[in-house]
Amino acid sequence: MKRTMFIFVVLGVLVLSACGSPASNDSASQAIGTLESVPAEYAGRTNPLGSDASTNGAKVFQTNCETCHGPQGHGDGPVGQALDPKPKNLAGLQTVASDDYLFWRISEGKPGTSMVGWKGILTEEQIWQVIAFVRTLK
Ligand code: HEC
Repeated sequence: MKRTMFIFVVLGVLVLSACGSPASNDSASQAIGTLESVPAEYAGRTNPLGSDASTNGAKVFQTNCETCHGPQGHGDGPVGQALDPKPKNLAGLQTVASDDYLFWRISEGKPGTSMVGWKGILTEEQIWQVIAFVRTLK
C-alpha cells in the first residue's frame, strides 16, 4: 500500500512539472510573433536607397513616428503608452522583418491598431528613407 502511494506521488510531481515548463524560452521571437505574409503587390520589393538615406529617414521618423514609437523605436513614445496594442519595438522587429514587409506595413498601416497607412502622407522615397533609419535601430 505504501509503495503504491509513493508511485502516485512521483507520477503527480512528474505531471505537474511537465505542465509548468514553458513551450519556448525564446522571448525575442515571442515578443515579435509570427509576421503576416506580404501581399503580392508589395512582395519582393527592396530598398532602392543606400544606407546613407537613414540621415533623412531620421528626420522623417522624428516628425511622424517618434511620438508613438519612441526616439529609438522601442515602442515607448509618450502617445504610444496610451494605445492598445502599444506600438511595436521596431529595433527588434527590423532584425526579423524584410524590406518588403516594412514597406507594406508603413504604406498601408496595420488594421485593428493605431498604425495608419502613410501612403499619400509620405512619398515612397520618404518611406524608404525611414526604413533605412529603422535598419539602424538597436
Ligand atoms: C499613432 C501612433 C503611431 C504612429 C504615429 C506610428 N505608429 Fe507605427 N505602429 C503603431 C502601433 C500601435 C502599431 C501596431 C503594433 C502591433 O501590431 O502590436 C504600429 C506598427 C508599426 C509597424 C509594424 C509592426 C508589425 O508588427 O508589423 C511598423 C513597421 C511601424 N509601425 C512603423 C512606423 C513608422 C515608420 C511610423 C512613422 C512613419 C509609424 N510607425 C508611426 C503606432 C504608431
